[in-house]
Amino acid sequence: MSEQPRPADPQPAPRPSGQLGKVLVVDDQKNMRATTALVLRDAGYAVAEAESGAAAVQRVAAEPFDVVLTDVRMGPVDGMEVLRATLESAPATQVIVMTAYGTIESAVEAIRRGAYDYLAKPFQEDELLLRIAKAVERRRLLGEVSLLAGEFRARYGLEHIVGRSAPIRELLERVRRVAPTDSTVLISGESGTGKELVARALHAGSRRSQKPFVPVNCAAITETLLESELFGHARGAFTGATRARRGLFEEASGGTLFIDEITETAPGFQAKLLRALQEGEIRRVGESMPVRVDVRVIASTNREIKQAVAERRFREDLYYRLAVVPLRVPPLRERREDVPLLVEHFLEAHARRTGVRKRLDPEALARLETYSWPGNVRELENLVEQAAALSQGPVITPVDMPFDTPGPEQPTPGTLAEAVDEAERRAITAAVQRCQGDLGEAARQLGVSSTTLWRRMKRLAIPGGG
Ligand SMILES: Nc1ncnc2c1ncn2[C@@H]1O[C@H](COP(=O)(O)OP(=O)(O)OP(=O)(O)O)[C@@H](O)[C@H]1O
Ligand SMILES: [Mg+2]
Repeated sequence: MSEQPRPADPQPAPRPSGQLGKVLVVDDQKNMRATTALVLRDAGYAVAEAESGAAAVQRVAAEPFDVVLTDVRMGPVDGMEVLRATLESAPATQVIVMTAYGTIESAVEAIRRGAYDYLAKPFQEDELLLRIAKAVERRRLLGEVSLLAGEFRARYGLEHIVGRSAPIRELLERVRRVAPTDSTVLISGESGTGKELVARALHAGSRRSQKPFVPVNCAAITETLLESELFGHARGAFTGATRARRGLFEEASGGTLFIDEITETAPGFQAKLLRALQEGEIRRVGESMPVRVDVRVIASTNREIKQAVAERRFREDLYYRLAVVPLRVPPLRERREDVPLLVEHFLEAHARRTGVRKRLDPEALARLETYSWPGNVRELENLVEQAAALSQGPVITPVDMPFDTPGPEQPTPGTLAEAVDEAERRAITAAVQRCQGDLGEAARQLGVSSTTLWRRMKRLAIPGGG
C-alpha cells in the first residue's frame, strides 16, 4: 500500500536475471543485435530480440518492455515506425534509437518525435549500460502503469478506497460519476487523507486506464526543473541540457497526469500550464514548435488554494480551469467511524506481507477512534504497521502503540479549530520528544512529510520548528 521507501537490505543479494528491467533490442544486423543483447543480459536485464521493425511492432503491442532499443535504419519498417508504434501502444516504454555515424539528424528527429535518447554506433559497453540504466530509471519514475489490460483498475479501482461514513460515500459517488468524463479535477484535502488514491481511482475508472498514470509532485522540485520535467526541453535549452528530452506531459500521452501540490507552483509555471490546458499543446523549454498532447490533468492541493487565489499567489484563471470538478477528501477526524474499517484493512495488508494475522484489543481500538489524526489515514496506516510489528502476541494492546495516542479527549472550551490545533500540538510535541528532536524521524512516525511537520510546528509555534 504505502509507497514510502523501505530501508534497504544491508547486503543486497545478487539480482536474479531480469529484475533490472526488460529491454527489447531491435536490429536487422544479427551480430550487432546479438552482441548488444548479450551485454545487457550479462548486466542483469531481461532481453528480447527482434530482427526487424515489423517483428518489433508486434512484440511491443503484445508484451510490456521498460525500454526499446532500436536501430533507425531498417527496411521496410524502420526505427521511426517502431518508435511511433511503441509510443502508441505502450507510452511509458522508453525508446532509445541507435544511429550510424554521420546520421545524427535522424537521432534529433527521433527525439523530437518522443524517443527518450539515442546511441551513436559504434558505442562502448559502458555507454550502452549507462543509457539503458537511465531509461529504465525514467520508466520507473512513471510509476505503476497499467501494462496488462485491467491491471491498474484491479489495483486502484474505487473498491480500494476503504470507508463507509457519509462523507466518504458522498466522495466515492462523485468519483464514480466524474471518472469516465475527461474533466479536469482538483482534489483538495489535508495531508495523508487519500488524495492520490482518489486520483488513481479516477484514472482507473476512465477510458484512459490502459494508458499511463503519471504523478508529479510540485513541492519536490524547483520551478525551472519542474518546467523541463513537465514540458520537456530542447538540447542546449539550459546548462546541462546536453540532450533533448520529452517531458511528463508527453509521457502521459493518452493517460492522466497527476499534478500533486499544485498550490506550491510559481506564476511562470502556472501560466504555461494554463496554456497547455487551454490549447491542448505544449512547448518544450527552448523550443518553439508546439507538440499536441492528449492528457487528462488531475491536480491536488493540501493547502487552501482559494486563499492562495485571493492573495494572488495562484492564478484565478488557472484555478477555474482546474477546478472544473472540485473534490474534497475529508480529514479522518470528520469520519471517525471509518477508523475500525481502516485498521482492519491495514492489518489485512500486514498479514498478507508477513503471514501473521494480528488484531486489536478493544481498548487500543477505542483509543484510535478518539484520537484526532493530524496525519490522517497515512498516520493511521503507519501506526497500525508499527503496532503490528511491535506487539509480541497476536493481540495488539495500547502498550504496543509506538505512539502516545491520548485517551479519550477531554472536551476543551473554544472553537473546533482550537481543539484541533491543541490535539495536533500534543501529538507533535510528544513525537518530537520521543525522537529526541530528530524531526525526520518524528515526521515519519506521525505519517507526514518533514516539510509538513516543519510547517505545522511553525504555525503552532512549537519550539524547533523554525
Ligand atoms: N480510504 C482509504 N482506504 C485505504 N487506504 C487509504 C485510504 N485513504 C488513504 N489511504 C492510504 O493512506 C496513505 C496516504 O494516502 P495518499 O497518499 O493518497 O494521501 P494524500 O492525500 O495524497 O497525502 P499527501 O497530501 O501527504 O500527499 C496511502 O498509503 C493510502 O493508500
Ligand atoms: Mg499525495
